[in-house]
Amino acid sequence: MSSGFPARFREAVGSGATLVEAPGTRESRLGFARSVAAGLSDEPKWLHCRFLYDAEGSRLFETITEQPEYYLTRTEAAILVKHAADIRTITGPRTLVELGSGYSVKTEHLLSAYVDEDNPLLYVPVDVSDTALREASKAIAEQFADVQFTGINGTYRSAFPVLRQLSPQMVIFLGSSIGNFNPAETTAFWRNIAGHLPVGDFLLLGVDLVKDVAVLEAAYNDAAGVTAAFTKNYFVRMNRELRSGIDIRQIEHVAIWNPELGRIEIYVRFHTDQEIYIEPLDERFKISAGERILVEISRKYRLPEVTEELGTFGFEARRAFTDDKEWFALLLLERTDDSVLRRPLYSATTR
Ligand code: AVJ
Repeated sequence: MSSGFPARFREAVGSGATLVEAPGTRESRLGFARSVAAGLSDEPKWLHCRFLYDAEGSRLFETITEQPEYYLTRTEAAILVKHAADIRTITGPRTLVELGSGYSVKTEHLLSAYVDEDNPLLYVPVDVSDTALREASKAIAEQFADVQFTGINGTYRSAFPVLRQLSPQMVIFLGSSIGNFNPAETTAFWRNIAGHLPVGDFLLLGVDLVKDVAVLEAAYNDAAGVTAAFTKNYFVRMNRELRSGIDIRQIEHVAIWNPELGRIEIYVRFHTDQEIYIEPLDERFKISAGERILVEISRKYRLPEVTEELGTFGFEARRAFTDDKEWFALLLLERTDDSVLRRPLYSATTR
């Protein structure tokens, strides 16, 4: 089935379809149930952050990006506005593939730099929210007549098998979404991208930088409570899709800086003992009053560390664009070395 997707995608691009559904995107109720059960069986308990982005979660995240405390989106957008033309000059014309595109609001700055009558632009946004993709396709069609929009409704991973056919391309991964991954997921992600992206292709990566703790924590504790609603929506979704029966009034959003791991950690703290039911698996999990469940992490970076880490996967930083305060950075990387992929995943001595 998965070998059929690259062909199906190629046809969709050929026929100008606006949306292709990746295999496995729909059967998500059981997938969601299994993921929740895995996290709640662990100690300390966690939940996978991908499931934050249902229709309501995607909408709430969009509202987060408008909050005064949430500097990430507007800082990154300002860098994009300032340097889109430079980026286009360095890469030349190419297909743009965006992982976790949401409503593609920031990407419009790049689209205007890349679109011109001589080179019709193919834009391939990838997102788990079909609602967000549909909205994005409408907005882009209104603004850019010369952009072909062929979106993939699926996870980041679902796009990997089609990357080879989209070369020459630039893969765009904005918003410091990479910061949501734990170290093992980060390594797996870079190995996957590196394994599918031909030498000479580009990667445009947005990363949030380490800064004053008060600024960082405020960004995840906005006064209007939108981030709290975003976090709690996970549990609302569990109630709706898994019949979990959680009393939402008795849970609280907690976001704190972890200095050892260099990341913001977002938890839900339970005020009372509760039982979480997972109907598709007929399983129940006990949560004690005061207990926290980790819902999301958001890593913050130091530039030399990221460039070094990406170097080990065969990416070379061509430019690093940042803002005056150096709060956020956009890295333009070129895939230069595929010998890294012929190295074993683990060396004999570390196993
Ligand atoms: C979309 C992952 C970049 O970590 O800042 C924002 C998600 N969660 N507020 C982030 C998020 C709570 C966001 N990313």
